Amino acid sequence: MKVLILPDAQAAIARAAEIVARTVTAKPDAVLGLATGGTMLPLYEALAQRHNDDGLSFAQTTSFNLDEYIGLAPDHPCSYHHYMQEAFFRHVDIDPLRTHLPKGDAADPRAASHDYEALIEAAGGIDLQLLGIGQNGHIGFNEPTASLGSRTRVKTLTESTRRANQRYFSSFDETPRYAITTGVATILSSRKCLLIATGESKAEAVANMVEGPVSAACPASALQFHARATVILDEAAASALKFTDYYENVHPEGRDSVFE
Ligand code: PGA
Repeated sequence: MKVLILPDAQAAIARAAEIVARTVTAKPDAVLGLATGGTMLPLYEALAQRHNDDGLSFAQTTSFNLDEYIGLAPDHPCSYHHYMQEAFFRHVDIDPLRTHLPKGDAADPRAASHDYEALIEAAGGIDLQLLGIGQNGHIGFNEPTASLGSRTRVKTLTESTRRANQRYFSSFDETPRYAITTGVATILSSRKCLLIATGESKAEAVANMVEGPVSAACPASALQFHARATVILDEAAASALKFTDYYENVHPEGRDSVFE
């Protein structure tokens, strides 16, 4: 696992944007795995800015989002469809027909999950998977105890995740209980993973992911099995790590090592 520690959130996001831009420039028809949440908002803003200022194009890319709430139609203001539209898609030149999110309003969410996994496979798999991490160590909506061999399916959200996401809804009761999420194994099948965490509230989950035992108790720790996983942190999110000196030695100020 490559651990890049940047001085603050702004620098961490700029570093992540650089990696996404490099991927899309090297492979204009890249398949991107996209994530939602507060951490990703400034990243999408930075990518939209590169689109406007430097002509970074997403016209040939295909995208698959990690997850969607069950029971919310795409135009629901709290759906991830709506989030993606507002935060990213409408600001860049991505072809709407090549953007994909699980169908949270499907009559049969299990069948929709199966179809989504098949669609990712038919697209040739994901080149670069963006990831956030929950305070409980989830990736996507793979909550603690999720099978590390899981594929896209319906998951019940933990109370802590619902509490964390309640801020987007009018009340806790309004916050959905279920979601369709790509699985841990779906994420591990991506050719590269890029996880971004900022802020002290993520420090414990980050330490469990990077240095803890691989365990379904922290689904993000499964990334230790991924051969090309990069974790971008600000100093606050890195504050509970033990081997910080080593990470900083290999990647001073979050730069690539001399052998890359
Ligand atoms: P956040 O969510 O960026 O809003 O903290 C991350 C996640 O739950 O994966």
